[in-house]
Amino acid sequence: MDSGKRSYLVLHGPNLNLLGKREVGIYGDLSLDELNSLLHTEAEKLGVKLECYQSNSEGDLLDRIHGAVGNYEGIVINPGAFSHYSIALRDALAGVDIPAVEIHLSNIYAREEFRHRSVIAPVVQGQISGFGPQSYLLGLRSLVNICDRTSS
Ligand code: DQA
Repeated sequence: MDSGKRSYLVLHGPNLNLLGKREVGIYGDLSLDELNSLLHTEAEKLGVKLECYQSNSEGDLLDRIHGAVGNYEGIVINPGAFSHYSIALRDALAGVDIPAVEIHLSNIYAREEFRHRSVIAPVVQGQISGFGPQSYLLGLRSLVNICDRTSS
C-alpha cells in the first residue's frame, strides 16, 4: 500500500472484475485492467499516487476502507450492487474521516427501480453515475480537487 499524503485509493466492488465481458451493452467493453490503466494515467496527470483494488467480498472492502486511515487522502469507490443495500459499507465510509466519491459506470437512475437507491450516497462527497469509464476519471479529478482545496 502506498503510504503518505496525496495517495488515493480506488475500490471496485463485486462483479467489476468481469468488466469487458459482463453485460457489455451496459458496462462497455473495457476490461478492469484497462480501466485501471486509464486511472493511473489520470493520476499521473494530477500528480497523485493511486492504488486500485477489486473485491467481490464485502469484508475485504470494509478492511480496505478501515486500512485507508492515515494512508490515503481520498477514496473513489464503485460499490457495485452493494451500493443498494450494504449498510456495513456505508457505516465504514461514514466511520473513517476520509472524503470519498461514489462511482457508477451506468446511470443507475435510468435502470431498474432497485438501483435507484444508494445507501452510500448520503455519506460520500458526491456521486457520479452514467458516464462509463469517464465516471471514474471525473470522480478522481473532483476528489483530488476537493482534497487540495481543503488541505491548503
Ligand atoms: C454499477 C451499478 C450497480 O447497480 C451494479 O450492481 C453494478 C455496477 C455501475 O457501475 O454502473 O455492479 O455500480
